[in-house]
Amino acid sequence: MISHDTIEEIRNRLDIVDVISDFVSLKKSGGNYKALSPFVNEKTPSFFVVPAKGIFKDFSSGKGGDAITFVMEHEKFSYTEALRYLAKKYGVEIREDRLSDESKAIQSEREGLYILMNFAKEFYRKQLTGSEEGISIGLSYFRERGFNDRTIEKFELGYALEGWENFSKEAMASGYNKEVLEKTGLVVKKEDGSTYDRFRGRVIFPVHNISGKVIAFGARMLGKDKNQPKYINSPETEIYHKGDVLYGLYQGKNAIRQQDVCYLVEGYTDVISMHQADVQNVVASSGTALTENQIKLIRRFTENITVLFDGDSAGVKAALRGIDMILKGGLNVRVLLFPDNEDPDSYSRKVGTSEFQKFLKENAQDFVSFKAGLYAKESSDPIKRAESIKEIVTSIAQIPDPVKRSVYIQETSSLLKIQENVLLIELNKILIQDKRKTEKDKFRQSDETQIPVEPIVEVAPTKVDPQTMVERQEQETIRLLLNYADQSVDEQSLSDFVLRELDDVEFLNPVYRQIYDAFKKGVDEGNIPDSSYFIHQGSEEIKNAVTGLVTHRYDTSRHWSDKYHIYFPKEKDIVNQLAFSNVLRLKFRVVQKMLEDNLQKVKQAESEGAWDDLDAALTTQTGLKEAEQELAKLLGIVIAR
Ligand code: UTP
Ligand code: MN
Repeated sequence: MISHDTIEEIRNRLDIVDVISDFVSLKKSGGNYKALSPFVNEKTPSFFVVPAKGIFKDFSSGKGGDAITFVMEHEKFSYTEALRYLAKKYGVEIREDRLSDESKAIQSEREGLYILMNFAKEFYRKQLTGSEEGISIGLSYFRERGFNDRTIEKFELGYALEGWENFSKEAMASGYNKEVLEKTGLVVKKEDGSTYDRFRGRVIFPVHNISGKVIAFGARMLGKDKNQPKYINSPETEIYHKGDVLYGLYQGKNAIRQQDVCYLVEGYTDVISMHQADVQNVVASSGTALTENQIKLIRRFTENITVLFDGDSAGVKAALRGIDMILKGGLNVRVLLFPDNEDPDSYSRKVGTSEFQKFLKENAQDFVSFKAGLYAKESSDPIKRAESIKEIVTSIAQIPDPVKRSVYIQETSSLLKIQENVLLIELNKILIQDKRKTEKDKFRQSDETQIPVEPIVEVAPTKVDPQTMVERQEQETIRLLLNYADQSVDEQSLSDFVLRELDDVEFLNPVYRQIYDAFKKGVDEGNIPDSSYFIHQGSEEIKNAVTGLVTHRYDTSRHWSDKYHIYFPKEKDIVNQLAFSNVLRLKFRVVQKMLEDNLQKVKQAESEGAWDDLDAALTTQTGLKEAEQELAKLLGIVIAR
């Protein structure tokens, strides 16, 4: 625990304007400062800093607090991480208290490892530019790959000379003991107890944690010795768990937040080449499959990941695995495939910065169309096609948010020309299976055998064009108005009732709209039109529609009662119910139409990578879904969630 005194001292020394200015460009406004919100996208400033009180307030996101809160919010730091950051910035020495002796020992041991890793990093850097071998072999290799000085600095690249003991000798001469050298993995211990340097004759890529401390190294060989691995990496240590680290996150985190998307690549050199091409929002999982923790790390900065990979089959397989992990983590994922035999590194150098940036912008696909495209070649074979559908739905099933899930189901349906309910059945199967599995895992300890599973209802909506569904109900509204305008409904005339209920509804069908508007006008003027008015005054279309609606239909009841002795109430006796259900149905269909229209917006925003629009559209989608559910409940209809 950081001591109380230390926290006080940090608070006393810090200046909130100075702290925030490291992240936001503040403009003076009276005694205060203002800026565009760093937390949401906006055009007019709603972010204020009040130095007199030592606080900030962001009216757009609602966030506010002191300088420590700001650092926590902005950098996604924990309280302690924020304090450490500020202590470093203001040169406050951190004193800890209330630590047990044991945790003190662990703490200082970890500190020791960090210090040695930093020492090693500096050592390798010096050798890159300060030794003949470093320059002629290491530096010239980086130059060949197009890395400039700034990039080499930014990533703190280095070189380890040939030789078994260069590093250990230097480290021991500087007072580090053998034990610590082993614990960092910088030296390897042989069976006879002697040790040698792990990294020799290789270029060095330091791996930084999120606050910039070096916690591991990757060392690439030069030349093409088939008997050696291309990379030698630090082993897992007390300070390095490779599943919890992303290469490039430290250098890229600000850009990731600003661009609100994170590119995911395969290796060290891909990350660095992208920085060279001025694309900084990029990380690599460095040779391991993406882990849950790595996804959580990215999530601190953005909800959007674009996976970049080369088109060979190994690349595709890895990407596919990654996609499901990311979806499961609740993030949005897009995929970008490079042309044959190109990776981000080779391709950025081949086409140059601006062309490369354009490529990134224009070629990202959402995962459904990507997967659909992969299997498209095999789509004539029905078995293969079924497999590919299953593949896509399996991915969709990973998404925790049901609204997003249904959006993707609809997209898949239109892309693959498969009925939505077929997909929903498949989806339900997978969801239920998964649920069963997690329930089983949960119950395993208690040795339960019978596991109740509630079905997950994602019933398929009837797939008739929503516009048609709306128009059918409009027609019914008009029919009721034409036939029963002055019948009483809910203690008023049907025309009053309908017009008031549908106050905010615009009719889509032009003919029905004209008739409806005439009713509106008539009600306002106290002169309600009837069918003969329209038949005599209306256009051909109106005449036609009106005649159709006031004559035939609903004569069937006579037929039914005669033939089967089933009694049907006369329509005019149930006008009340008809009017109620008609206004509900019309609203219901209008909402469904809006859902469909909004879905187009979702898709467009998605395909353009317009994440803010996507966010807004998904919010709308949620709201509309709720309205749909509400109306459905009133109507007694079960619809898709
Ligand atoms: P790559 O072979 O694509 O490496 O492996 P790279 O970093 O792009 O290097 P270049 O382009 O060949 O110079 C991708 C990642 O897999 C891990 C490394 O993290 C590498 O960055 N890897 C690869 C290893 O750990 N060991 C290996 O032997 C090979
Ligand atoms: Mn490569």
